[in-house]
Order: sequence, then structure tokens, then C-alpha cells
Amino acid sequence: MEQTLVIVKPDAVNRGLVGEIVKRFENKGLQIVAMKMLELQSYTLKEHYAHHQDKEFFAELIGFMSSIPSIAMILQGKEAITVVRKMVGSTQGREAAPGTLRGDYSVSNQSNIVHASEDKKAAEVEIKRFFKKEEIYNYQKMNFDWIYSKDEKYLKK
Ligand code: CMP
Repeated sequence: MEQTLVIVKPDAVNRGLVGEIVKRFENKGLQIVAMKMLELQSYTLKEHYAHHQDKEFFAELIGFMSSIPSIAMILQGKEAITVVRKMVGSTQGREAAPGTLRGDYSVSNQSNIVHASEDKKAAEVEIKRFFKKEEIYNYQKMNFDWIYSKDEKYLKK
């Protein structure tokens, strides 16, 4: 099954939205296999957002993301990367579709409450960036048979 990295950003932590965000992912049927609160360090963020380093908002983004602690988690499920990205919605909160996390809780392009890995390669790199192997748990989700069909059980990703 696929795993993806989600960061509940400082704006969501500050606004008390952590429970709501976790609840949405759990309600969807995604499995939490790792979760922790952490103060994101500038050097980690510069690496994490290296693809934005030439943008004018880069310094502000690093400052924002390191301002107060964030919650990092790994979610697991069939095609979890796509499922989570759809739930999160587009970057600009004002444009994000209602029903998505950003569409419902953000009116900003920076304070957009969550980060979610873009694709498989990014998920692999980002999971390694924020979690040690021993922080990721492997356990049987009791309602698994009620969440997926029999043939989906054999779906690799
Ligand atoms: P995220 O999905 O984590 O990826 C890059 C982040 O940069 C994005 O969410 C926003 O938090 C931030 N971002 C994107 N566009 C802008 C912008 N125009 N101004 C400030 N921050 C931005």
C-alpha cells in the first residue's frame, strides 16, 4: 500500500485545526502509521522547499514554516498520495474547491494549513526526511475489510 507525508502547518496548529484535519483523513479511511509534533528547522525546510528557492516568497515561507511547531504524519492507503492530494486541494486557499481542506479552511497561498507529498518520488524522499524507520508503525487496521473491496486488497499501490 502507498504511504504519503502530510505536514499540518503552523497556521493550522495555531488555529486549533489539528483534530479536524486528522479526523478528515481518518474518516476517509486512511491509516495513520506515524505522527509527531516537531519544530521544523530552517536547513530541513530549505531542502524540503528547494524547488521554490528562486521564488520571491521563499524566505517568508521558511520563516512561516519554522515559526511554531508543526505536526508531521505518514498516511497509508490504496493510492494514498493521490487520495490525500485531492483531499487537500489546490495551493491557493481562495481557489481551492469547497470540501477540500484548503477550500474549507484557508484563504491564503502561504497559510494553506497542510502540505502533502506531490507524487511517489516526493513521498519517498519526504518520509525519509521527517521520520526514522523506527517511528513508522506496521499494524493491522481492524476495519480494513470494510474500507476496500476484495479485489482492491491485491492492488499494490
Ligand atoms: P506547499 O504545498 O507546502 O508547497 C509550497 C508552499 O509554498 C505552499 O504550500 C505554500 O505554503 C507556499 N506558497 C505557495 N505560493 C506562495 C506565494 N505566492 N506566497 C507565499 N507562499 C506561497
